[in-house]
Amino acid sequence: MKKTTAFSIAMAMTAISASASDVVLDVWTARIGAKIPATMYGIFFEDINYGADGGLYAEMIKNRSFEFPQNLQGWRVLGDIKVMEDGPFFRNPHYVRMIPSGHRDKATAIENEGFFGVSFEKGKKYRFSIWARVPDGGPDKIRVELCDPASDIDWTDMARAQITIDSGEWKKYTVTLEPSHTAENGVVRLFLDRDSKHPVDVEHVSLFPVDTWNGHENGMRRDLAQALADLKPGVFRFSGGCIVEGTTETDRYQWKNTVGPVENRPLNRNRWEDCFTNRLAADYYQSRGLGFYDYFLLAEEIGAAPLPVLNVGMVCQYQNNPEDHTPLDSLESYIQDALDLVEFANGDVSTKWGALRAEMGHPAPFGLKYMAVGNEQWGPEYVKHLAPFVKAIRKQHPEIKIIGSSGPGVDDDKFNYLWPEMARLGVDLVDEHYYRDEDWFLGNATRYDSYSRKNPKVFAGEYACHPKGNKRNLYKGALSEAAFMTGLERNADIVNMCTYAPLFANVNGWQWRPDLIWFDNFNTMLTDSYEIQRLYSLYKGTDVIPVTMNGKPAAGKEGQHGIYASGVCDSNADSYIVKVASRPLERL
Ligand code: AHR
Repeated sequence: MKKTTAFSIAMAMTAISASASDVVLDVWTARIGAKIPATMYGIFFEDINYGADGGLYAEMIKNRSFEFPQNLQGWRVLGDIKVMEDGPFFRNPHYVRMIPSGHRDKATAIENEGFFGVSFEKGKKYRFSIWARVPDGGPDKIRVELCDPASDIDWTDMARAQITIDSGEWKKYTVTLEPSHTAENGVVRLFLDRDSKHPVDVEHVSLFPVDTWNGHENGMRRDLAQALADLKPGVFRFSGGCIVEGTTETDRYQWKNTVGPVENRPLNRNRWEDCFTNRLAADYYQSRGLGFYDYFLLAEEIGAAPLPVLNVGMVCQYQNNPEDHTPLDSLESYIQDALDLVEFANGDVSTKWGALRAEMGHPAPFGLKYMAVGNEQWGPEYVKHLAPFVKAIRKQHPEIKIIGSSGPGVDDDKFNYLWPEMARLGVDLVDEHYYRDEDWFLGNATRYDSYSRKNPKVFAGEYACHPKGNKRNLYKGALSEAAFMTGLERNADIVNMCTYAPLFANVNGWQWRPDLIWFDNFNTMLTDSYEIQRLYSLYKGTDVIPVTMNGKPAAGKEGQHGIYASGVCDSNADSYIVKVASRPLERL
């Protein structure tokens, strides 16, 4: 091999292995290969492990619209409380009528337990809002309190506010509460005034920290969103995962139910309510307070390309039979949802869906470029379902890159069947998922070195090392993910994006692990895998450049060597990773 332009880095390997000798790495800077796409390292958000309600979504009240099947789930009641069902928001029709006892010492009240407690902090501000009316005209008063039942501090000192409900018509009332104490397992209490004479109706009872991510009122937890922003992701895949498919057709993810006024977004049963574990999450519902508008906005604010995943007319194949899928001749509304989503994200404000985006606060287009259709679907049914989507999207939106699925595995019959089919359908990228052990990840660091360069590009859409015998976030798991990612970036000419999964887990209510970021109501815990993601994303290369070690390819095949090299130093040494950057050298 003739060096044209190269610089050499001599590395004393003794620091790594006492028996190893010096090696010379040559970085062939004149042989620039593929550009490493901006989308290379991204994030994937799914509402699993209480990732949305009880997680990223900063709402602190559980079952705020009284729409859980047991309408008062999450609430304790005192006195005469009636659940009504002719409320002002037709897709969430239930509300609560609080009826006065007629005696000042007999209270009428409701109390919300929050998500694993209502956790509030001294010195912070919280925005309480409620829709209410006095059906017979009133006026009357209600009182809201933040309380800590475990504390011996006088509850009345915590935070309280009185609200006068002055109308027989439904109206939104808002007050700001500033607790004088911190409580981890607090509650929110709502009392009818002790001198009350009139029933008061309440609906959509909501409590948010004022300090949300970028101050958005229907906002996200600042710390969790910041953890995402700190990754500087190039792509943001949402909203699933299995929840896109649904356990049944009814509870599949439908983006149109997640936009518009939050009060009227219908509740959905979460597909992760009891899966895989014995931890029955009987209160795991999706308020859809966090919806597609919010995801697009977050993508924009953290500089990531939005990548929505849409249902292809098929329910989760693990949980259903072929006859449970939507028949091929009934896919029209599903396909229309895909086309309308492009209009919602990119359309002019004079269009129906573009106008809704503008009304929600974002007249400028979101710049949608990618769309995945189907998650982990497989078999000929998937191909038949996907084909009309591809045709319609290509016809109306040739600018959109379509992502197809290769099924849930990466070395089985389903996978081997789907790849050629995806190529035949002409999708732009194929989504591959890997939840494997450390041997698999280390062994697959070279996976893409020999992939066909003629097929669609690869999106490593879900991956995480599940260490053998111990499915936890372990350092060796994170390290083997790093080795694998090295191979992704080295093959950036065909692997255009990758996203770890799952992203979030609430320590008090998870269904799946390992996960990238753990949290409780106050704290965020970033894992080793997170640090690997951050390292790779922040120090992503710009171009693939050949690297040789002592004159031989450092990794991969001739002509495909990247700016990274990974491998075994010698037979006595542990696996290690050499990260070589052609510029700037300070990154080493
Ligand atoms: O990330 C958890 C789940 O793993 C996703 O919902 C699904 O796509 C995959 O099976």
